Amino acid sequence: MSNAPNTAGNERFNAEAANWDNNPSVQEATRLAYETLRPLIENLSEKQATTGTGVDVLEVGCGTGLLSVRVAPLVREIVAVDTAEGMIEMLKAKTTLPGSPRNIVPICKLLEDPEDPVLPPSDEKHPTAGRRKFDLALSHLVLHHIPDLRPFLQMLLGCLKPGGRIALTDFEDFGPEAIKFHPKSKLEGVERHGIPRQWIEDLLKEVGFEQVKVWVGWKLDKDVEGWEDDNGSHDGGKKTMQFPFLVCEGSNPLRLLCFVSWSVAPNSVLVWMSQIIHIGHGTISNRRIVDTTEVCASVLSIIIRKNPHLHVPQPGQCYALSWGYEFIWLTPTLY
Ligand SMILES: C[S@@+](CC[C@H](N)C(=O)[O-])C[C@H]1O[C@@H](n2cnc3c(N)ncnc32)[C@H](O)[C@@H]1O
Repeated sequence: MSNAPNTAGNERFNAEAANWDNNPSVQEATRLAYETLRPLIENLSEKQATTGTGVDVLEVGCGTGLLSVRVAPLVREIVAVDTAEGMIEMLKAKTTLPGSPRNIVPICKLLEDPEDPVLPPSDEKHPTAGRRKFDLALSHLVLHHIPDLRPFLQMLLGCLKPGGRIALTDFEDFGPEAIKFHPKSKLEGVERHGIPRQWIEDLLKEVGFEQVKVWVGWKLDKDVEGWEDDNGSHDGGKKTMQFPFLVCEGSNPLRLLCFVSWSVAPNSVLVWMSQIIHIGHGTISNRRIVDTTEVCASVLSIIIRKNPHLHVPQPGQCYALSWGYEFIWLTPTLY
């Protein structure tokens, strides 16, 4: 099974696109998602600010961009992908309105490959080279539409930078009543009635995410229509139910990237790269730093600048370190 939405799903969302934003429940769910995710995004933005770069976001299943438009002012750029052309056309129209954010890139595509050429290149000067990797991947109210979540999550993992994160939100499958989230007339394209909490947590770990955390972010009061009530009679009217929403977090593991060692000479530091290494936008090869936009590149610049007598150590003389922000704990010793 793939992560492709069934055709009925696309037809449904194309048909609903023009009126999507007029649904108060959709608006309220987006507001709550944004309020819940905002601290996480602001936190990432603050970290990135120290390196002079902004946060690059991928949103999959963006619909008409209700969440994308709110998130855009907090980040460098948001690539907003959806399989329904009608939804993407609505988003494109929004992005041309006066005062709307200019850092949204709408794309209509079923994304199955992190190296899909529809994604922006990692380096604008080399458009045919690898695709951009993201600091954060979002989706809101999408997981319950995807037939097989495993390839979908694997694809998201491949779209992240080392250490990049996901924050996926959807309503929880809290039991048989969860089916009432959708009216009976709108079950086309619905693959599951919410997301079981333990199941998604296990799946995220199996796929390879680290620091997995699945938690209830908020509860949405929603009118439910067309379902029989508890005593079996059909009330014919509306009633309000509360639906818990899960926030599914995880991160792409940091990779082993560099080796650092100390020479026998006092106060000298040996730094060398065993191979050419790609870190975000930057490339670091043997003591040569080609792009200093990344934290790692700037930390290494400092080490090399402060230690003019660098030597390439003999194999076996070195310590292997996981790359990442943790690296910073080493730098006081190196200074
Ligand atoms: C319930 S709507 C939510 C839209 C938007 N996130 C919002 O909250 O307004 C689900 C959206 O996911 C899209 N979708 C479903 N499967 C998808 C997939 N595999 N990749 C990208 N988008 C998908 C649908 O076209 C639809 O626009």
